[in-house]
Amino acid sequence: MKGIILAGGRGSRLYPVTRSVSKHLLPVYDKPMIYYPLSTLMLAGIRDVLVISTPEDIPQYQRLMGDGTRWGISLAYAEQAAPRGVAEALIIAEPFVAGESCALVLGDNLFYGTGLAGTLRKAAALESGAVIFAYPVQDPERYGIVELGPVRPDGYRSAVSLEEKPAHPRSRLAVPGMYFYDGQACGFAKRVTPSARGEIEITDVNRCYLERGQLRVELFGRGTAWLDAGTHASLLSAANFVHAVQDRQGLMISCPEEIAWRMGFIDDARLAALANDQASEYGDYLRRLLERP
Ligand code: DAU
Repeated sequence: MKGIILAGGRGSRLYPVTRSVSKHLLPVYDKPMIYYPLSTLMLAGIRDVLVISTPEDIPQYQRLMGDGTRWGISLAYAEQAAPRGVAEALIIAEPFVAGESCALVLGDNLFYGTGLAGTLRKAAALESGAVIFAYPVQDPERYGIVELGPVRPDGYRSAVSLEEKPAHPRSRLAVPGMYFYDGQACGFAKRVTPSARGEIEITDVNRCYLERGQLRVELFGRGTAWLDAGTHASLLSAANFVHAVQDRQGLMISCPEEIAWRMGFIDDARLAALANDQASEYGDYLRRLLERP
């Protein structure tokens, strides 16, 4: 399965902070924001990833992450000239995806919690259709919303309806920015017409799967944290969350080096080299992993 991270957009909700810096390079406590969605894909076992960003910002991402070799993965980059909608990521990624299945993660979405790696790997094993997620929120009018149907024979929930930022939501279950699709997704995205806000909506791609009876929904429970870091307040909350958990446990959330090592993408020697490359608390953490994993 191929992975896609959408890390473009203007970040206008974070102006003036994002006037000269791409939102997904801002720190969420001790790591650049993009490390979190990248870690999510790596935890799903995905090693072939396309990062989509603006033409101006791509060089910064390349400087930060290179071609991914150091983490035992492959990173490619593609431009989105203007923020025409989340589903445009699938159109831009079509040559990269090349008819395979793919997972799309939004660059400002963070996931953390019990059993998450297993849930992601199960979704990444899909052979046909799509898997999306549902998460209870207090402000459903800000998100894509799903109304759940009965349990399917495969254990996933079915969906009855999907709506993008409805004024009167039919449920308070938001659809997080992480989607697993079979080879049909790029074709569906090309058929979507822009919404009233002028964007090609990912909710319309998901509706294509729903209409064909091919949409599966995994309901995240209390044990999972889903945070988006797209506003000043949510960015601060995400940073505080990461700090609180890491400070208590001494274990990092979404450290790509650690995940690469635990997943067997890199060996001890590579991890040691990565640790020695950074004379910081972050590097110290990597060194400690080798001493007491
Ligand atoms: O966070 C989950 C929500 O993300 C979903 O529940 C919604 O269904 C989905 O439409 C999306 O809603 P948002 O309005 O929150 O998306 P936003 O415009 O904030 O974009 C999400 C990320 O994708 C953000 O980091 C910027 C990036 N982006 C967005 C668009 C529209 C791009 O790189 N290019 C784009 O064209």
